[in-house]
Amino acid sequence: MRLLFLGDIVGRPGRKAVTERLPALRERWCLDCVVINGENAAGGFGITEAICDEILAAGADAITLGNHAWDQREALVFIERQTRLIRPANYPPGAPGRGAGLIETAKGNRVLVTNLLGRIFMDALDDPFAAADREIARCPLREVADAVVVDIHAEATSEKQALGYYLDGRATLVIGTHTHVPTSDGRVLPGGTAFLSDAGMCGDYDSVLGMHKDEPIRRFLQKTPGSRLEAASGEGALSGFAVQTDDCTGLALRVAPVRIGPHLEQASPGFWD
Ligand SMILES: [Fe+2]
Ligand SMILES: [Fe+2]
Repeated sequence: MRLLFLGDIVGRPGRKAVTERLPALRERWCLDCVVINGENAAGGFGITEAICDEILAAGADAITLGNHAWDQREALVFIERQTRLIRPANYPPGAPGRGAGLIETAKGNRVLVTNLLGRIFMDALDDPFAAADREIARCPLREVADAVVVDIHAEATSEKQALGYYLDGRATLVIGTHTHVPTSDGRVLPGGTAFLSDAGMCGDYDSVLGMHKDEPIRRFLQKTPGSRLEAASGEGALSGFAVQTDDCTGLALRVAPVRIGPHLEQASPGFWD
C-alpha cells in the first residue's frame, strides 16, 4: 500500500494547501490511504464539522486530533457521528468519539488509525503505551488490519521514539505530531515499522508554529498576556511522510519525507514518480 501522512493542518493556509494539492497528489502517487492531523484546522484551534468534511472531501481517509481536539466545542458532538475523525485513545473512559478506527479505503484495504497523546510537558492523560497495546490488540496487523497507523501527538521526541520502538513490528507507521516542526529522522525501524519524530505542519511556515509572528514574539519579550494568537495568513505548505508498505507483512518497505510549498526545502518520494 501507499500511505501518506500529513502533519497538523493549521488554519486557512493549511486547509488551502491540502484542498488544492492533495487531490492531484492522490492521483499522481496512486495513494491508497491518506491520514492527516486536523487538530489546528479551525483558525489554529480545533476542528469544525464543515472543515472536517472539507478535508475528507479533499482526499483524507482519516483525520487525527491532539490536545486541541475540543477547542471547537461542536467537535464534542459531531465526533460521535464522524467515524473517520479519531481523537486520542488515552482519554479517560467516557470521552466522546473514538480513539481508533478501522478505516476502509477506496480499494477495500482496512487501515487501523489510532491517535495517542504524550504525557511529557503536556496535560497528562492515561498511559499512551497501554492505550496503543489495547487498540492494536483489537485489530492486529495482518490478522485484521492491512496497515496500522499510530499518530503520537506529543512534545517530547524521547517519548515518541520510545513508542516507535515499543510498537516496532506491530504498527506500519508510528509518526509524531504536535510540534509543527518537521524532523529529518524518518526511517524504517529494525522490526519494519516506519517512524518519524514529527511530521511538521500543513500551514504557513512564515510564522511561529503556524501563527502570526508578532504576538508570540511579544509574549516572549514582555511576559504579559496580550491579544489572541491568530493563524498566519500567507501561502501554506504541506509537510508529512510517505510510506510504501509490503502487502504481505503490512510493514514498511520504504519511507520518504514530503514537503511541498513555500519556505521549506522541497521533498517528495522519488520511488512513486
Ligand atoms: Fe498542532
Ligand atoms: Fe498539539
